[in-house]
Amino acid sequence: MNFAQRTTRLDQEKYQEMYQRSITDPEGFWSEQAEELLVWDTKWDTVFTHDVEQGRVRWFDGGTLNVSYNCIDRHVEAGMGARVAYYWEGNEGQRIDITYQQLLEEVSRFANLLKSRGVTKGDRVCIYMPMIPEAVYAMLACARIGAVHTVVFGGFSAEALQSRIHDAACVAVITADYVKRGPKQNPLQANVDAILPDCPTVHTTVVVQIGSEPLVLGDTSVDYRAEIMKQDVVCEPESMEAEDPLFILYTSGSTGKPKGVLHTTGGYLLYAAMTHRYTFDYQPDDVYWCAADVGWITGHTYMVYGPLCNGATSVLFEGVPTYPDASRYWEVIDKYSVTTFYSTPTAIRMLMGQGDEFVTKTSRQSLQILGTVGEPINPEAWHWYHDVVGRGQCYIVDTWWQTETGGHALTPIPGTVDPKPGAAMQPFFGIQPVIVDADGNELTGECEGILLLKGSWPGQMRDLFNDHERYLEVYFSQYPGYYLPGDGVRRDADGHLWISGRIDDVMNISGRLIGTAEVESALVLHPDIVEAAAVTIPHPVKGCSMCVFVCPTASATITEETYVELGDLVKKQVGSFARPDQIVAVAALPKTRSGKIMRRIVRKIANKEYDALGDVSTLMNPESVTDLIEIVKKL
Ligand code: WT7
Repeated sequence: MNFAQRTTRLDQEKYQEMYQRSITDPEGFWSEQAEELLVWDTKWDTVFTHDVEQGRVRWFDGGTLNVSYNCIDRHVEAGMGARVAYYWEGNEGQRIDITYQQLLEEVSRFANLLKSRGVTKGDRVCIYMPMIPEAVYAMLACARIGAVHTVVFGGFSAEALQSRIHDAACVAVITADYVKRGPKQNPLQANVDAILPDCPTVHTTVVVQIGSEPLVLGDTSVDYRAEIMKQDVVCEPESMEAEDPLFILYTSGSTGKPKGVLHTTGGYLLYAAMTHRYTFDYQPDDVYWCAADVGWITGHTYMVYGPLCNGATSVLFEGVPTYPDASRYWEVIDKYSVTTFYSTPTAIRMLMGQGDEFVTKTSRQSLQILGTVGEPINPEAWHWYHDVVGRGQCYIVDTWWQTETGGHALTPIPGTVDPKPGAAMQPFFGIQPVIVDADGNELTGECEGILLLKGSWPGQMRDLFNDHERYLEVYFSQYPGYYLPGDGVRRDADGHLWISGRIDDVMNISGRLIGTAEVESALVLHPDIVEAAAVTIPHPVKGCSMCVFVCPTASATITEETYVELGDLVKKQVGSFARPDQIVAVAALPKTRSGKIMRRIVRKIANKEYDALGDVSTLMNPESVTDLIEIVKKL
């Protein structure tokens, strides 16, 4: 079937009507949605309250519900127990079909296992897992007993894992012995074991065996496969307050350590379910595949909570797009007759570079809706996605959102608007985009500026875990009364929105946010390095690549080996995905008179925009600019 033959939930008129109502009558609009999409134990008293000054929002106060019940039990109770929740596709092409009934049993057992180890409501549990079904069971098991999960992407290093466990004061860690990615098998449990002595809050580690060697377990570790079958298959879901925390997910910031974004129960689940339903025009016959990792917000909202709440059938994929070859995605699409596929510009560009043959030898006749997320998509990649992957017959949703927004904030919706290649187009229900100049003056009509969001929506983050001050400072202090996402945006003559990219010191490499501060503080740990500045330059596949400039100490001799050591330091402190693409030693970096590195100038020079530097005479060391330009010209 083609998208053109699909009867979509919405058309432009219906979208407009619903959008207007979501703004003019938010209480009425969201109560109806909350009644329709979720099952509540007790109904709420207040739809929402918004303290603009404190950036405090509360949704569905007084209401109680359980997220795991909403994602599983209610579908089983409605007679859908035999429906497939997940087709798990293993790295090597193994297949496991998991029905809602089986999901209920697995999650209940896991919940009982956690309980038997003393994990209770409100406890934080760290999940450091590969893309195996147990990762999803673990998240839902936490939700079932009211524990708060914090999933850490398996590509993060032991150090990065430790700082998150420490910040969230986790009592338990759920992990696996290995993670399999294409031809590689990397250790995972070893990273946990390495830091456990420095994690005093952790009393339990659960290890899921996927490798062939027997597990080596410490005193506080549990062998998941040995213990799980001893657990009862019934576990009563804990009734939670709508504003009880559901999870913490760390995301990179402009400065300092990653931020623990906190999401709560009722509003988040409603927004996850609703965006999944409308943005992907989800209908019961669909087979939906979000090719993300549970370690990112996309994995939370669009692999787990949104689709399960809607009773969807999803593909859960362990592998990578190029293993065994670059046809893998398209073969999986044919294998399960996927109708809706959600990926990233980086993956699309990378596969585009492998040639059309890998795509055209597969059928992809089932595909109707294609999604993209994580970074701006260039029109060339958009057209390739549309014409080659989608046979020119699919609707493309370019979804702009963030860990903090909980779900899609700007996106075309199938059946409503004709998407323009590279544009996030229009706001989702309840989202009120405002564009301002640097001084905060609101811009109207065709314009380009800083994106702000006015008001509140149910999926909005509630706080930074244990750091309300930073929350206010980062998101609400620069433009009081508005939420500041940190992206630039353009509005065209038709009123459609185009995201241009980050406007702060956060780098977006292959759709993954990395703070300049995280990389720089890793580099200066090297005894030969005193200072560092990390910037991005455009890259044909990754969107942006990372270039860092380092200043050695006076006595240091920088050799090829030093560069390798520096790359390794970033790998150790953050993870291999954050390793710089280019490291360049320089005598000095441009600084303000107060001694702050002018990253903006470094970025311009790295991008060879020598004429756009502005007035550099007020710098503490204007000569550093000339030196830097000379070095960059020779690269
Ligand atoms: C940042 C948020 C949202 C899930 C994955 C990333 C960039 C995200 C788009 C898009 C242009 C995008 C923004 C945003 N971004 N989607 N469709 N077009 N840019 O979540 O790690 O919290 O990153 O990703 O810069 O602020 P995240």
